[in-house]
Amino acid sequence: MAVRINPSILAADFVNMQRDLHAISTADFVHVDVMDNHFVPNLTFGPQMVERIQAVSPIPLDVHLMIEDVDRWAPPYADLGCFSVTFHAEATLEPVKLARELRKLGARAGIALKPGTAVDDYLEILEEFDQVLVMTVEPGFGGQKFISAVMPKLSALARARNSTGADVWLQVDGGVTAETIAIAAESGADTFVAGSSVFNADSIPSAIETLRETARAHQHDNL
Ligand code: DX5
Ligand code: ZN
Repeated sequence: MAVRINPSILAADFVNMQRDLHAISTADFVHVDVMDNHFVPNLTFGPQMVERIQAVSPIPLDVHLMIEDVDRWAPPYADLGCFSVTFHAEATLEPVKLARELRKLGARAGIALKPGTAVDDYLEILEEFDQVLVMTVEPGFGGQKFISAVMPKLSALARARNSTGADVWLQVDGGVTAETIAIAAESGADTFVAGSSVFNADSIPSAIETLRETARAHQHDNL
């Protein structure tokens, strides 16, 4: 099984963004947290900043939209050419329609679930998405503690993926460290977002490598 490590630039130095993007060049994707101060109580970047990040980043962009009104605002990120665009299930009434639109625009379509959002409705329509993001903290801020109580959602997704053969990546985001990544990998995740544990490390490349090796060591097929 594959392992993807996506450092979150929410933990980068915003005035040294280009430097920090180069510092994570051994990772698979750069995770870009877009927040609008409405869906979550925090504000980060909009499309102009994301366009510049994309222009200078050595690795492709995994955009996580923590914004309202995604039916209107998600497609422009796909138009920019971002590799993947993930919107929150709680922010749209028509997730399948939006996912199809994002795919049509050439992006991978992701759907994100807050810790309190049930996964059941999505298990039967997994093939509509390229990625499901299971939040392991309440969205809004970096540096929070990993909520292991959401792991059953991940195992349910992993089982549904195995039984349907859907080609969907299972992502975790929030509180991912060299310790908690083991639990997430055991539960079926293959794509791991890590902000503070990467950017606060003494060596960013070693932190990325340790996360990758630990996840690999804990992945298994019996879910
Ligand atoms: C939280 C964001 C995360 C955040 C993770 O709302 O979606 O991507 O950057 O940060 P850490 O890894 O510090 O929990
Ligand atoms: Zn995120």
